[in-house]
Amino acid sequence: MSREITITTLKYNPSDENSQPTFVDYTLEETPGMTLYIALSKIKATLDHDLTSDFVCRAGICGACGMIINGKPKLACRTLTSEFEDGKIELLPLPTFKLIKDLSVDTGSWMKNMSMRVNSWIVSNEEYDISKLEKRIEPEVADEVFELDRCIECGLCVAGCSTAIMREDFVGAVGLNRVARFSIDPHDDRTDEDFYELIGDDEGIFGCMSLLACEDHCPKDLPLQSKIAYMRRKMVKLA
Ligand code: SF4
Ligand code: FES
Repeated sequence: MSREITITTLKYNPSDENSQPTFVDYTLEETPGMTLYIALSKIKATLDHDLTSDFVCRAGICGACGMIINGKPKLACRTLTSEFEDGKIELLPLPTFKLIKDLSVDTGSWMKNMSMRVNSWIVSNEEYDISKLEKRIEPEVADEVFELDRCIECGLCVAGCSTAIMREDFVGAVGLNRVARFSIDPHDDRTDEDFYELIGDDEGIFGCMSLLACEDHCPKDLPLQSKIAYMRRKMVKLA
């Protein structure tokens, strides 16, 4: 049996000086299997063409649709409206990231800065020779690297993190996971001392207060808690 649901969203355009932050209610008919992506698309098509939110893949892959849904950071395309028994859903943009408009935030610039900060690339001492096959690594090690590479840069771990909200330059679980990924990859020749130079401070590994909301909210179930602990154990020896 279908029911009416009410979606309340923040509307605000920081680049328009006449815009004021306001909450707007939209009432619509729920359809079977309706996700928040579908609900927002319906609102945009029939009730408010001006409402802004981001979606690309609709399948939990691109990481574009993160927002605060009834107080929790989640992907809108992977959240069913039926999860909310009273049919009332409140949406806010992710905190920490620059607000573009309404529910749309700029995670891209944040992720780029984080990637530059932690030197998020393979650093090898070997001269690159395109005619040679890539260095072979053990399958178990490759699996471990690929597991950490599943991050979709959605920013939910950052939005749910108290340190990230207090410290503007904190690299977040996404950044610490990235460093853990390179530290276990045999293609990368950096030492623990090199990684310490990148994250051995309060904006890096020592900023984490171990509340671990990052892992609670990660839609890809990445082992953020154990990877942060793994890096902290390594880095504390060098402090
Ligand atoms: S670690 Fe998880 S929550 Fe954080 S950006 Fe990557 S996929 Fe999103
Ligand atoms: S639209 Fe791509 S993750 Fe939701």
